[in-house]
Amino acid sequence: MALSLVHSTLFSKTSQLLLHTKIGFSHFSSSIPFSTSALPSNPKTWRRPVISVLELGGVKIARDDVVRDDPTNNVPDTIFSKLGLQLHRRDQHPLGILKNTIYDYFDTNYSNKFDKFDELCPIVSVKQNFDDVLVPADHVSRSYNDTYYVDSQTVLRCHTSAHQAELLRKGHTHFLVTGDVYRRDSIDSTHYPVFHQMEGFRVFSPDEWEASGMDGTSFAAEDLKKCLEGLATHLFGAVEMRWVDTYFPFTNPSFELEIYFKEKWLEVLGCGVTEQEILKRNGKLNNVAWAFGLGLERLAMVLFDIPDIRLFWSDDERFTSQFSKGQLGTKFKPFSRYPPCYKDMSFWISESFTENNLCEVVRGIAGDLVEEVSLIDNFTNKKGMTSHCYRISYRSMERSLTDEEINDLQMSVREQHAANSSLRRLYYSMRSKLLLQESTPLTLDAYGYSAAIITCRCKITKLSDDGPSSSDSCIFV
Ligand code: PHE
Repeated sequence: MALSLVHSTLFSKTSQLLLHTKIGFSHFSSSIPFSTSALPSNPKTWRRPVISVLELGGVKIARDDVVRDDPTNNVPDTIFSKLGLQLHRRDQHPLGILKNTIYDYFDTNYSNKFDKFDELCPIVSVKQNFDDVLVPADHVSRSYNDTYYVDSQTVLRCHTSAHQAELLRKGHTHFLVTGDVYRRDSIDSTHYPVFHQMEGFRVFSPDEWEASGMDGTSFAAEDLKKCLEGLATHLFGAVEMRWVDTYFPFTNPSFELEIYFKEKWLEVLGCGVTEQEILKRNGKLNNVAWAFGLGLERLAMVLFDIPDIRLFWSDDERFTSQFSKGQLGTKFKPFSRYPPCYKDMSFWISESFTENNLCEVVRGIAGDLVEEVSLIDNFTNKKGMTSHCYRISYRSMERSLTDEEINDLQMSVREQHAANSSLRRLYYSMRSKLLLQESTPLTLDAYGYSAAIITCRCKITKLSDDGPSSSDSCIFV
């Protein structure tokens, strides 16, 4: 798959479109927390042991703070294990090298005016991640299908924009925020559920634009474009560039910058003039500002010729030894690749099926051994039932895989996918039965699964003239 927009700019209209049309499914189809972490761990799955406490920017975080056997939690161990790694803070790592090169650009051109943050905790509130940057209540990015929820009010940030408001309130007017961001997503060579972004933010005061004779918004937009064109030249040399209008909830107008690189237009970043409402709420009523967000992996893959996003996470010396501090653009020399092993799996899908949920199951079981999950057949019979066939490609970066271990993995994937599907079916059938009994909407609030017993805890929301009110949870076995 070509580098898609999804990884760097989830919030733009174009990427929403992409998400929706990727396999013809609406990402609103399942906003229910079908957490894989709530499922029993299969003794056959060989997950690496998970460190149980880590320290993030001076704060101690225990596994139980992030991975919980709770219906509102959909964070698997594989994600928790990435939390403290902070690849962007390693000076010899391509992501650290790229971050430092961008820092150099801002330090040189803005005489060290930009404050830099690269250790802000990735566990943030729903308010920080969405509300503070005006993401609408029904936006696709808020769904359990797209975002990792620690609980109903806490998420793993899905973009570095989550820190805009707090930094503004603390009085910062020029800042760069770099950090790991988390998104439930499909699996291929350019998509990984954890990646890194850098956010840039600059506030102007009235005297800055008044002198120019321009209105504040045009002034900020022009300054933003100049700044980012300079950055692109700093990173890529003299390349052709173009600006594309787009939409983000937090900026207006909004743009994407594309550069022409190796005979292709490549989207480099999303940006725009900050919505006045964000400034107003955070003590900057009379100002204007610009913001940008760029995905470090997508740039580093191009600049260092890195063919697979999983390599960024590799401890293999044949990868790590190829890069040195301060050396942007060293071309990666691929080492011999071990053969892939393909396994197909077909199943009838229900209305609640999403590719992200399947990918989460596969990743939970096979970890970084899974290279790609791709839909290879999509068939609808006369009764309107649809079956999908997915090809899972397994490949290790470090060793040859044996048939036996791949068969075991594939078996576990099938079992867990089937268990998840029965849960969803059960939930939907209960829901429709209850809806027949009383004309009240029902939301699945919880589910648990143990051995042969499936328990669903449901919350019935009564709609009255005064609005919705919740009844106690009911347990169904
Ligand atoms: N936060 C946006 C994303 O992740 C990128 C962005 C940042 C766009 C700042 C505009 C301004 O998709």
